[in-house]
Amino acid sequence: MSPEDFSFVADFLKKKSGISLTDDKTYLVESRLLPLARQHDLDDITGLVAAMKGGRGSLGDHESLMDDVLDAMTTNETFFFRDNKPFDAIRKDILPQLIERRKSAKSLRIWCAAASTGQEPYSIAMLLKEYGAQLNDWRLSILGTDVSGEALKRAEAGNYSQFEVQRGLPAQLLIKYLHKEEKYWMINSELKSMIRYKKLNLLSSFESLGKFDIVFCRNVLIYFEVETKRQILERISRQMPPDGILVLGSAETVLNVSDHFQLIPGLSGFYKINPAMS
Ligand SMILES: C[S@@+](CC[C@H](N)C(=O)[O-])C[C@H]1O[C@@H](n2cnc3c(N)ncnc32)[C@H](O)[C@@H]1O
Repeated sequence: MSPEDFSFVADFLKKKSGISLTDDKTYLVESRLLPLARQHDLDDITGLVAAMKGGRGSLGDHESLMDDVLDAMTTNETFFFRDNKPFDAIRKDILPQLIERRKSAKSLRIWCAAASTGQEPYSIAMLLKEYGAQLNDWRLSILGTDVSGEALKRAEAGNYSQFEVQRGLPAQLLIKYLHKEEKYWMINSELKSMIRYKKLNLLSSFESLGKFDIVFCRNVLIYFEVETKRQILERISRQMPPDGILVLGSAETVLNVSDHFQLIPGLSGFYKINPAMS
């Protein structure tokens, strides 16, 4: 693809989603957008970029083309109980303390801010279900959001291939919380009912979502530049009570990015609100 087409796509992506593409990512753009061009009956990426510039179809068609480009350019890689350790830490260290502090309200709200195709929110829901009788009469709600409408459609459907369930989901949880229909494994309705999905761009306002006791924002900040990360982290901190917990991905940190959170000693990837900033 030409350098001009690459810059156009990179500018669009950054403005729309915050995702920052370095110049060495031409191959990525080509491999993701060429199939999309073909789906839209366009010969090549130059044709797709021309259509993005507004040359084709009605306004509605143009908007859906732009959404398709954004969907194609998001990396939706995820799997059940990704990295394991954070889930162990939630079970052993985070939940016992939060349960103690919320024992009169008996309510926990969890936000999965880059839910992708749903494996992360469903893993959290299974963890809560497995936690034991202590949470039986609690109101437990999980909100899964993502900028990719296509990823969210899959999350809402809750259908996974054999390959997808083999990535991280222990056999006893598979049998307990999913059932097989033809080739696919489907999440059982009881587990599904714990999660609400909503399309949400982390660049836009999320004040109306209310407060969350735990926010999972894993493996998404890596795609953003420092200033974008800083702004998102500050706005996330406002959606949390003073004792709320933030969980980031293993390659992510708040260090040199935001003063609104502090690492919880001994718990890699877990952050609490910095009282000096709240
Ligand atoms: C690599 S996946 C991470 C999924 C999951 N959190 C995990 O760790 O397995 C990154 C997700 O972030 C989403 N994403 C990228 N930019 C976003 C934005 N500006 N707002 C919301 N979600 C975004 C992508 O659509 C993608 O589904």
